[in-house]
Parts: sequence; structure tokens; C-alpha cells
Amino acid sequence: MKGRAEVIVGAQWGDEGKGRIVDALASRVDVVVRYQGGANAGHTVIVDGEEYIFHLLPSGMLYSGKACVIGNGVVVDPQQLIDELTDLQTRGKDRARLVVSGSAHVVMPYHKVLDGMEERFRGAGKRIGTTRRGIGPCYVDKVNRSGIRMEDLLNEEVLREKITFNLEVKNMILTRVYGEDPLAFGTIFEQAREWGEKLAPYVGDASLTIWKSMESGGRVLLEGAQGTLLDVDHGTYPYVTSSNPTAGGACVGAGVGPSTVDRITGVVKAYCTRVGEGSFPTEEEGDLGDRLRDKGHEFGATTGRPRRCGWLDMVALRYAVRVSGITALALTKLDILTGIESIPVCMEYLAEGAKLQDFSGNLRVLENVKPHYTHLEGWKEDISECRSLEDLPKAARDYISFIEKHTGVPVVLVGVGPGREQTIVNGL
Ligand code: GDP
Ligand code: IMO
Ligand code: MG
Repeated sequence: MKGRAEVIVGAQWGDEGKGRIVDALASRVDVVVRYQGGANAGHTVIVDGEEYIFHLLPSGMLYSGKACVIGNGVVVDPQQLIDELTDLQTRGKDRARLVVSGSAHVVMPYHKVLDGMEERFRGAGKRIGTTRRGIGPCYVDKVNRSGIRMEDLLNEEVLREKITFNLEVKNMILTRVYGEDPLAFGTIFEQAREWGEKLAPYVGDASLTIWKSMESGGRVLLEGAQGTLLDVDHGTYPYVTSSNPTAGGACVGAGVGPSTVDRITGVVKAYCTRVGEGSFPTEEEGDLGDRLRDKGHEFGATTGRPRRCGWLDMVALRYAVRVSGITALALTKLDILTGIESIPVCMEYLAEGAKLQDFSGNLRVLENVKPHYTHLEGWKEDISECRSLEDLPKAARDYISFIEKHTGVPVVLVGVGPGREQTIVNGL
């Protein structure tokens, strides 16, 4: 096998800037693959001042001559996919070739209804704060072996049988548990058939497409959604998403073997944000948190919700490096820290007098820790026009070196603004 794969993984709670990093790297690869999650993701790419937000399409779609793949690990909302493709066509940007795995599961209308009902049922204090895109209920059906896959949309007989079976169960839950009206078979079946017709040209063998490219020496980029601390196994369970954003999930969700992967890049924001409920040890709820939110435009790309903001958490970052085997870091939004005189960075947690250096996903532990901060010197200079490390003020360079030193991982990309060109490449 001549070709190789690399993985891009979120190292925090999502929204680290994965989209813009994938876009920056896409020019160097042949195939870009989304491997998990669904339209809960919102990946922003800004080119020539124009903003594109990808929810399901890989962030490599803006390059011609590339292949883009939606892997088996993704849960596909077909209407969302059709809308995104139409939007790109309207803007004259449907550049890449797209293959959607026939084994990827379909987010059905009842998944979205159930997502909302389950959140309502959990109530205040227990609610996860999901994006209500039907992600959890769709993965439940996948694991339960009752889900509908993209390939099923292309076979009327199978589709009819599967929707009939699923609706029978879902309608019992909707009417008897939640006291809601049942969903009608006819509307859902017709909609699904139409989705199949429109998406048929894209449905194919994702794993084989990737394999063939690597066989002829191609380079493949596996694009993660969400982030390490939202991983259903390694995150802050139950305040997580229902898939594996960590690097292990990339191989399973794309259908490639681990031996083909030669680089795992963790995307890390220069500070931290989180959308939805759950522990966030370095959260800054005061004026400084508001300042980060305003300056960093920290509002969800999918739901528009304000993101909770706080400081860089080295305990969590070292954990992300460990569970994904991260070999390189891409640091984003360094420009947002400009003007902060003294920047807090959490080096360890304090729990009942004890020091914790290792992250724990156990909520009982995490809810009771306090961050112990080191303060790093800030800088005042505008860095948004810097294009090499040498252009940066010394304090900004020191911030980068500090992260490298305490993770043992080199920072190979630095974002100094949201635009494609506002990227410093260092030793890639
Ligand atoms: P993703 O989900 O990880 O792809 O991240 P999002 O797109 O949800 O959120 C990242 C936001 O930060 C987007 O609005 C990006 O345009 C923006 N962004 C990314 N990198 C930088 C950067 O280096 N500087 C600034 N100022 N904005 C950035
Ligand atoms: P990207 O790919 C940030 C969060 C939700 C909620 C939890 C579960 O743009 O980084 P879900 O709808 O997945 O069942 O919600 O996960 N969440 C994200 N937070 N960025 C995302 O994606 C997210 N996708 C899901 O806010 O807390
Ligand atoms: Mg996002």
C-alpha cells in the first residue's frame, strides 16, 4: 500500500476550528472523509471572505479534483445533505466528487422527534442539551440492528418493510410513553423514497473508494466531528454525543485499517468552549468569559446557542493526546487572546486538597475539581496578519512553546484569524 491516511480530531468539546484546519490541509490530500457524527456538527470554512458551514459534507468540498466521502460511521440526515449540496451548487462550488457510504445510517424524522422528547423527559438538571438533530436515537437504532441505511433508501421493498417495522415501535413510544400523536407511514415513506432518488448517484462503497485511492498512492484525510470530551466512551458521559470522535473512531467510521494512519492532528482552541450541559472545569462565567465569547464569536454554528467559554485546560489536552495518540497539534484562535494581559492556563485540578494531573471522565470526580492556574504573559499586538512564527510577538510564541512542552507534541499549524490564508504552517 503506497498511500497513507491522516486523522483530524477535536481535542476539546468540539468547535475547535476543525473545518478551517481540514480546509487548510485539503489542498495537500486526495480524499477527505467524514467518519462519525451527523448534522450536529457545524464546520466553518471562510474563503475570500465567503463563509461556508458544513454540517454533513466534508470540509474538503471547496477543492476541485478531490474526492469527498461520507463514511459508514456517519448518521446522515438526507434532507440536510440535499440542502447542503444544493447550496454549494447555487454558489457555484460543488467542486469535489462525493461518495456516501451505503452503510451509513439514515436519521429519520422519528429520530428527531424522539431526541426532543427524551430531552424534555430528562428535564432541567438532567438534560444533555443535544442539538436535537436526532443523533442519539439514530445511533441507538444502529446498535439495536433496526436502523435504516443509505443503501435501503434505494430499494423500495426493503424500505417499506423497515419503515413499517420501525414506525410500529416508535409510534407506540410516542403515543403511550410521551402522549404524542403517531407519525404517518405514507408521508415518511414517500419522503424517504424521494431522498433515495435524489441521493442514488452518490451512494457507493466508501471504504473501497478510499482503499483504491491509497492503492494508487493517494493521501486521505479523515475528518472528525465533535471532540474528545464529547466521545461516548472517553468523554464526560452522559454529557456526550453518541459516537466516537477520537482517532480510533476514524478507522471504524471510514473503513480503513489503523496501519495506514501516519499522522493524527489534534485541533485545539487557544482557550476552551463548550455548548450544551456538563462539567467544564475551566469555565469563566464572569466578564472575561463574555469577552472571549464576543471577541471569538462563540455562538454555535449549528444551533446558534451561545458557547460557554473558559481557559485552556492542559489536563484535558494531555488526556486528548493520550486517548487519540495525537502526533501533531493545530492551534486555532490565538488572535482572540490578543489584549489579555495575563492568560490563565490550567495545569492541574485540585480535588479536596489533592492534586489531579490525569483527566477523569467520571462525573463525580469532575464536578468537584477546581482548576489550578498558571498565568502566562499576554501580548497586545494584532497578530491577524502574521504568516510565520517569527512574525508573532515573543509572548505569543511562548504560549505555543508552552503547549508543546507540556503535551510533548509539536504545534504544526496556528490559526490567527478565520480566513484560509490566516494560517501559520510550521514544519508540516
Ligand atoms: P469546528 O466545528 O471545529 O469546525 O469549529 P466551528 O466552525 O464550529 O467553530 C470555529 C469558529 O471559529 C468558526 O466561526 C471559525 O470561522 C472560527 N475560527 C477558526 N479558526 C480561527 C482562528 O484562528 N481565528 C479566529 N478569529 N477565528 C477562527
Ligand atoms: P462540531 O463538529 C460542539 C454537543 C451538544 C450536546 C452534546 C450531545 O461542530 O465540533 P448531540 O446532538 O450530539 O446528541 O448532542 O454534544 N455537540 C457539539 N458541541 N460542537 C459540535 O460539533 C457538537 N456536536 C454535538 O451541544 O452537548
Ligand atoms: Mg462546530
